[in-house]
Amino acid sequence: MDLRLKSFEEYKSAYKSSVENPDAFWDGIAKQFKWIKPYDKVCEWDFRKPDVKWFVGGKVNITENALDVHLQERPDQTAILWEPNEVNEPALEISYKELYHKVCRFANALKKQGIQKGDRVVLYMPMVPELAIACLACARIGAIHSVVFAGFSAKAMADRINDASAKMVITADELRRGDKRLNIKEIVDTALEECASVERVIVYQSKGEKHNWHEGRDLSWDEAEEGCSDDCAAEPMDSEDMLFILYTSGSTGKPKGVVHTHGGYMVYATYSFQNVFQYEPGDIYWCTADIGWITGHSYIVYGPLISGATTMMFEGIPSYPDPGRFWKVCEKHKVNQFYTAPTAIRALMGCGNEFVEGYDLSSLKVLGTVGEPINEEAWEWYHKMVGKENCPIVDTWWQTETGGIMISGLGDHSPQKPTFAGYPLPGIQPVIKNDKGETIEENGFEGLLCIQHPWPSVIRTTYGNHERCKQVYFSAFDNCYFTGDGAKRDENGMYRIIGRVDDVINVSGHRFGTAEIEDAINQHPEVIESAVVGFPHEVKGQGIYAFVIGSSNIHEEGLEKAVRAIVEEMIGKIARPDHIQIVDGLPKTRSGKIMRRILRKIVANEADQLGDTSTLLDPEVVDKLIDGVKT
Ligand code: WT7
Repeated sequence: MDLRLKSFEEYKSAYKSSVENPDAFWDGIAKQFKWIKPYDKVCEWDFRKPDVKWFVGGKVNITENALDVHLQERPDQTAILWEPNEVNEPALEISYKELYHKVCRFANALKKQGIQKGDRVVLYMPMVPELAIACLACARIGAIHSVVFAGFSAKAMADRINDASAKMVITADELRRGDKRLNIKEIVDTALEECASVERVIVYQSKGEKHNWHEGRDLSWDEAEEGCSDDCAAEPMDSEDMLFILYTSGSTGKPKGVVHTHGGYMVYATYSFQNVFQYEPGDIYWCTADIGWITGHSYIVYGPLISGATTMMFEGIPSYPDPGRFWKVCEKHKVNQFYTAPTAIRALMGCGNEFVEGYDLSSLKVLGTVGEPINEEAWEWYHKMVGKENCPIVDTWWQTETGGIMISGLGDHSPQKPTFAGYPLPGIQPVIKNDKGETIEENGFEGLLCIQHPWPSVIRTTYGNHERCKQVYFSAFDNCYFTGDGAKRDENGMYRIIGRVDDVINVSGHRFGTAEIEDAINQHPEVIESAVVGFPHEVKGQGIYAFVIGSSNIHEEGLEKAVRAIVEEMIGKIARPDHIQIVDGLPKTRSGKIMRRILRKIVANEADQLGDTSTLLDPEVVDKLIDGVKT
């Protein structure tokens, strides 16, 4: 199935028809997939509810499109190419035929353990092929997977398991990341002390240890598969049946479960994959994300596999055993498309050119970035040192909620402009609004980015709380999806993403709500109040800055340590504040609201541009904060 647009002219004409007649446009694409029963209608929608349905009445199973359809044409082609953490361990090649059988066998194992269509299964795994296999096996039988990134704490996992009322957890005995080893089964054990819904834990044993085994609950991967056939008919799913839940942070409350469905997600992940990366048969494609994030779902697993690509999975980290690892792997496997995050590029750039220079990177055709705005310096370095000025850079803007890439170049067809993500993909209709909700047609205006017509992989609901989905994404502006990002359009119609306009911080491409971190900090008995903001960070994009008021029972140093520890416990190491400033007061309005705008200016070293502070209850606290600011 070749869905590629092959020139900028083709893109322009596809874009035009996608706007003029979205149904006909998407029908032309969707009918190329394998449907168990064809759909009756392309799209039905009402953003005000929101109620969005794609490929209405169709029956489909996404795994038939990722696996079965390739058995004739490319059974022996490598589907998943796995590069282990350790340099001296051999890479693993899993062919499409092998993958099909592995998925079917594990799907049967899940069934044998009582997992049925609609059941939720939480995955807490290292970046090993079994993670992709487990996702596909769930989808095969109609179970809903929810992958929790293995950097989250036991408490964060427990929150997600409970929100989804998951029946099963799949994990491993060990996670390797660089020179670190983590017993993640132990973290699952802790989480499950608070989770009554989980009946069974399947442990992939890379090390072969049965740590703290709960007889009757825990089962090894091999035990689970015993006696299971390696063929398993795909469950016929309604287009709109849930495929997965993926939790992500917002500006308020606990992380919410973003829901994607079989039909629409399948079509959009595949269409965007082929067009953005211009994947050609035989290419080796590598996305360095973790499957715990949406990037891994759409562009390691589903998009590439449905396209019949060879997709690489990397277990390790960019700096191990040295900061040349990415390029070493690109050379070793002759990678053609390489997709990573600006934070990784900036970190590697900081390590020096000597770690790139020695490697043969001539196989590279397309470079991609995702997760946060890429600054010009990093863009230039990536373009020159990695792409040797021969590779287009696709700066892909999208979100967990959008399911797939929304604004980006398409391989080398599109004009390039550093720091601009570029043009919307066909079917995507962005608009820029002002605070009053008016659409601003003139270019150059910095406003709020909204999307005004559904696309097949738009978020359907937030699991267990549809009202929240409506409030967060569909209520800010009438009949529009609101992204939470600020953006502007240039005179040629290219979009530049400026960053979040809500209380979400983006740390190394990972999203955290300031409220979520404050809630964690406030759990500590010696904390009276806290306020968290993001600050510009050279490598991470944004860092986390916490202002904390403590009780008199604890000294500063002890409190700082306690704050770090509690964030680690409640969310995970990845959310630990970079700076903690212990203070006696916070800038509040007369009505008691913390003025975050002021805090953001202070931590960005822009205290000279505080603006109007006359509404503050006690303007003097501001001077104290400025005096004590940490850098
Ligand atoms: C937020 C979504 C889906 C990819 C991984 C992150 C920011 C994402 C870009 C980009 C500027 C970007 C936005 C967005 N973002 N890509 N190319 N340029 N900003 O997914 O965790 O759902 O975060 O990441 O602020 O809203 P996510």
